[in-house]
Amino acid sequence: MDTIECINSKRSIRAYEETQIPYETVMELLTLGTKASTGSNHQPWGFVVIQDAREIEDLSKNIKAYLLENLEKYPYLSQYETWLQSEKYSIFNNASTLIVVYGNTDSHWYIYDCTLAAGNIMLAAYSKGIGTCWIGFAEYYFNTPEFKKKYKIPENYELVAPLSCGYIKGTVKPPERKPPVVFNR
Ligand SMILES: Cc1cc2nc3c(=O)[nH]c(=O)nc-3n(C[C@H](O)[C@H](O)[C@H](O)COP(=O)(O)O)c2cc1C
Repeated sequence: MDTIECINSKRSIRAYEETQIPYETVMELLTLGTKASTGSNHQPWGFVVIQDAREIEDLSKNIKAYLLENLEKYPYLSQYETWLQSEKYSIFNNASTLIVVYGNTDSHWYIYDCTLAAGNIMLAAYSKGIGTCWIGFAEYYFNTPEFKKKYKIPENYELVAPLSCGYIKGTVKPPERKPPVVFNR
């Protein structure tokens, strides 16, 4: 798949085949992520990779419970309250792999840098038939001291991009977008 075709057709994927992504392929995606440009060439990223289905399901349950308990802190999530209350809803859409991108806060540009890395990972994955979806719901839980301790994330790293990943099940239509707004024309 060429680059333009990949950018034009890539979607967020929420239905995955059961086949697990080999760890070597995940490492290849992370390496492609690290080709992103970074402010002052700091390359301020670190990754967590989770490939255990039970662990991912438990995380989904914990995150739903955490968000429901703390909804008053995140009022814009109240529109999703019924999803979060649903037993059946997996916030990672039953993905078999999570790639979580963390950024070193010592670097001023870490959010931009790690977002570019995540963009590379998502496009590279799509070109290999691997779907990804950025899971904003995971934002708070993945920065909790409890989570960081369990997954050995250094204190000066903050979450940037939680991505669910898996081989794409079915087909998706290309994205529809508003035309670009050019302010000065
Ligand atoms: C910062 C961010 C947070 C997102 N959070 C979620 C999420 O928690 N759950 C989900 O299913 N999709 C999430 N998405 C995916 C968006 O819903 C999706 O990108 C958007 O609807 C456009 O669809 P497309 O990516 O297929 O073109 C998120 C995307 C971004 C960039």
